[in-house]
Amino acid sequence: MKKNITFLGIETSCDETAAAVIQENEDNSAMILSNIVSSQIKEHEKFGGVVPELAARAHVENIDFIINKALNDSKLSMEEIDGIAATAGPGLMVCLTVGLNIGKSIAAFANKPFVAVNHLEGHALSPGLENKIKFPYLLLLISGGHSQYLIVKDIGKYEQLGTTIDDALGEAFDKTAKMLDLGYPGGPNIEKFSKLGDKNFYKLPEPIINRAGCNLSFAGLKTAVLRESKNINGDLQLKYNLAASFQNTVNKILMKKTKEAMRQFKNKTTLKEEVSFVVAGGVAANQSIRENLTLVCNEMNFKPLFPNLKFCGDNAAMIAWAGIKRYKKKLINKLDFAAKSRWPLDPTARYLKGPGLKL
Ligand code: KG4
Ligand code: ZN
Repeated sequence: MKKNITFLGIETSCDETAAAVIQENEDNSAMILSNIVSSQIKEHEKFGGVVPELAARAHVENIDFIINKALNDSKLSMEEIDGIAATAGPGLMVCLTVGLNIGKSIAAFANKPFVAVNHLEGHALSPGLENKIKFPYLLLLISGGHSQYLIVKDIGKYEQLGTTIDDALGEAFDKTAKMLDLGYPGGPNIEKFSKLGDKNFYKLPEPIINRAGCNLSFAGLKTAVLRESKNINGDLQLKYNLAASFQNTVNKILMKKTKEAMRQFKNKTTLKEEVSFVVAGGVAANQSIRENLTLVCNEMNFKPLFPNLKFCGDNAAMIAWAGIKRYKKKLINKLDFAAKSRWPLDPTARYLKGPGLKL
């Protein structure tokens, strides 16, 4: 196998149209040759959330330009690229198919290997873009669609320790921001306005905090925010207090559940040395969450690792990187690979959603 491997990555699973060219060097470090992300915030702002058909249309309109820009910025010709990786799931079907189809077409026309990447594996391996990281490590993946604790054992090998039984954390941030009329996307705005509020003003519920292992639940918290938001009557200070109290409650839940996940990790592995704890996904951009989980790491003897902000949210650098890692393991896909709206990293994990759920 060649010493340096270079992949074009394509990502269109939700509301970011992204393409990147990443090289893996001989020493296994990553070189970001280009990393282009076009966000669709403007398209979805007035609806307060992602509208799948509008997102798909924006992907179709932008994807050629974004891929060309990624290739031009990398200063490489197509001949110098070793393979193409595109996100094939999980995500919005109408969006996934845009990037997946163009990825497959480029691979077919340029006669390059194609790797269908699980978006969650992209997030899971994203710390490798900036750090040398050893398997196994503990991962908290918190994004708009997922909230999970996973043991990352190797490429393609994951053990889920816990997951949300209802809303994803990013979704809870976005809905809270919508209820408080703090704009879209909600996460960064909740973080911003929390700084102006009293985080102890509201006592909000901490669902399943003392049970169900390191599974998570945010629906009850969101409902409590809705109830309190009805009594705010435009009072800005109360609004900021509620934002701050919401974020503070999220931090309390994550601290408690992270300790539990770390205990489970230690019980399942026999490692003596310090292990990395990675927080990935869009919500990992939140500074207060980073600070609080760093405290937990210090207490539990884990090494905190937070990807750079540009690799927390959706991007194609992580997709190209996961593509390279899979390619090196000969995990190459055929061009008839179909998009998957649901695609768990640990296929043996119980699906913890729906009525009648018992924990
Ligand atoms: O990983 P991501 O870009 O897309 C998905 O795969 O879902 O995550 C997007 C989510 C959104 O819900 C957004 O509100 C949230 O990440 N987010 C944040 C922050 N920045 C983005 N949540 C809390 N604090 C932030 N600073
Ligand atoms: Zn994501």
